[in-house]
Amino acid sequence: MSSPFWKPGTEKPRILEDEEGGVVFFSPSLASSSSGYGYASIEKQRQRLPVYKYRTSILYLVETHATTIIVGETGSGKTTQIPQYLKEAGWADGGRVIACTQPRRLAVQAVASRVAEEMGVKVGEEVGYTIRFEDLTNKGVTMIKFLTDGVLLREMMDDPLLTKYSVIMVDEAHERSISTDILLGLLKKIQRRRPELRLIISSATIEAKSMSAFFQARKSRHRMECEGLPKMEPAILSVEGRGFNVQIHYVEEPVSDYVQAVVSTVMLINDQEPPGDILVFLTGQDDIDAAVQLLTEEARTNRKNSSGLIILPLYSGLPRADQELVFSPTPRGKRKVVISTNIAETSLTLEGVVYVVDSGFSKQRFYNPISDIENLVVAPISKASARQRAGRAGRVRPGKCYRLYTEEYFVNEMPAEGIPEMQRSNLVSCVIQLKALGIDNILGFDWPAPPPPEAMIRAVEVLYSLGVIDDDAKLTSPTGFQVAEIPLDPMISKMILSSSELGCSEEIITIAAILSIQSIWVSSRGAQRELDEARLRFAAAEGDHVTFLNVYKGFLQSSKSSRWCHKNFINYQSMKKVVEIREQLRRIALRIGMVLKSCESDMQVLRKAVCAGFFANACRLEASSQSGLYKTIRGSQEIYIHPSSVLFRVNPKWIVYHSLVSTDRHYMRNVISIDPSWLLEAAPHFYQHQRLNPIVH
Ligand code: CDP
Ligand code: MG
Repeated sequence: MSSPFWKPGTEKPRILEDEEGGVVFFSPSLASSSSGYGYASIEKQRQRLPVYKYRTSILYLVETHATTIIVGETGSGKTTQIPQYLKEAGWADGGRVIACTQPRRLAVQAVASRVAEEMGVKVGEEVGYTIRFEDLTNKGVTMIKFLTDGVLLREMMDDPLLTKYSVIMVDEAHERSISTDILLGLLKKIQRRRPELRLIISSATIEAKSMSAFFQARKSRHRMECEGLPKMEPAILSVEGRGFNVQIHYVEEPVSDYVQAVVSTVMLINDQEPPGDILVFLTGQDDIDAAVQLLTEEARTNRKNSSGLIILPLYSGLPRADQELVFSPTPRGKRKVVISTNIAETSLTLEGVVYVVDSGFSKQRFYNPISDIENLVVAPISKASARQRAGRAGRVRPGKCYRLYTEEYFVNEMPAEGIPEMQRSNLVSCVIQLKALGIDNILGFDWPAPPPPEAMIRAVEVLYSLGVIDDDAKLTSPTGFQVAEIPLDPMISKMILSSSELGCSEEIITIAAILSIQSIWVSSRGAQRELDEARLRFAAAEGDHVTFLNVYKGFLQSSKSSRWCHKNFINYQSMKKVVEIREQLRRIALRIGMVLKSCESDMQVLRKAVCAGFFANACRLEASSQSGLYKTIRGSQEIYIHPSSVLFRVNPKWIVYHSLVSTDRHYMRNVISIDPSWLLEAAPHFYQHQRLNPIVH
């Protein structure tokens, strides 16, 4: 088979940086089994991992240093082993807990179940996990707890010094997620008050030196080094991996459709290369689902060797059962193709991968404080990421990485490092969290990477307009504290609070639950028309939020039937999750003293409540526009309704949106029509002066 992208014979194989100093490990016994470890006992498997050799050193460093930085290649055993070593050494004795944070929810669940399996316990007992809206821990029993860094930040609101933890391992620190960065800043403060607390900062590639410098630089020498207390100077330990060499292949010409290129490359590998699983890096659920579908069709229709392909998606929000398929060993004679977001770059280890196909892109958050627009953009990855991705091919034996970009592009254009999320995000959630933790001087906060002041100022401005902070930039009472209490974006939280006054909280809580799920629709590239028709069955003239309510009502009327979901192109797993989240939000609402009430069929109050939270995302249709061009009221940005919205082509004059995605244009997802006078009611400060102009016209 020939590929339009990759021509055998013209390839320029590259040897990946050899971290072993030229030594290549190759063990036939490892390579012969598809899972890489065959049937070795769990204990044996644990001892084979690279970190095992460092067990004593790690425990010694943690004992003697307040902060230990551990750098080690993905798959070397940092996440699954270090918490167990700590437990074995007694760090969980006396009711104390060892915490290990992850930036991603899916990784939290996956590593918790792996560690529970290794320890021979059920998840939720000695090993537990907590992610937003899901707590599988048992007080007094759980010794090792995996959690997202966001959840740990929330825990600080009730227990500012995190007293129940003896060791906190901040894992995947190289990802520099916004929550990781806030956490690092706060943990550094906590250490001052709790010298007995130990921190482990671990990552696949980290500027260990700069991280170390961050933990070392302290404004005042608050205490002398004294006996019995750990050294404040951070220790750095590097775990030597045992990655195999990976040959790098580049495309000759730039690729125009990377989903299609992925399909051809996977088929090419399957036709020409010996057994071994394939890991593909795409950007998000949409293109992953599309590639899975195309590959499945391709494999079904005309390929001679393709009956052995098992094609699986991997992204956050994937139902449990599907996750298990991804992690289970590949049956003999089969070849697994896992199509993943960058979650498989470092957060998760997949055994048996020998071939990597790298699209060169990932979905990244970008924020422009001037236009106040934050969106998820499919953007080029960094060289650091590209190397990590390639490294995934060398876990069990020498592998190959197919890069769907040219070598020239890699060398000359790809940025060396990614930008920390803190420096490219809307900071509204970040600021409110710090405020809720009593950090008043946010500009003076000790950041690992300081955020742009403009973004800070914008965030403060939005929070002020939401009524969450006052003239002194302190949380207002009760609104500010209530908003901070709800574990959602402050705009959603404000919408929920307003619904209490407007008498539509039952409905708004449902909407909030649905907005916190990626999508309630089954995505399908092939059956777009059927999907659109199904959507129309629920479509409401007011917009997507009311449409969601109709879906939810239908789901309840069907007695939560999976058949009903299937028939209507609705994702059953997502709907079950919505019901769960809704229940949790209901509990939180009652706890913070909200009145729960239904507005029955009065959709006007409901739209007002949405507007009360999302006024900052208001847009107006351009008067002369035939093409559905909107402009944001704040920044006059050009913006369009996403084709998946029920208001696509309907184009009401005034709308607010929930989120944006950008490709060639900015597209608004989840849109509802409003009356412009509500904007002034909701946020007089925000829409004063020049911004008032377009509204009164
Ligand atoms: O954190 P790090 O990337 O250093 O490695 P890890 O996640 O602790 O994984 C260590 C090893 O555990 C991997 O190489 C896999 O063999 C195994 N593992 C697994 O089989 N299934 C999982 N869900 C997680 C890890
Ligand atoms: Mg890990």
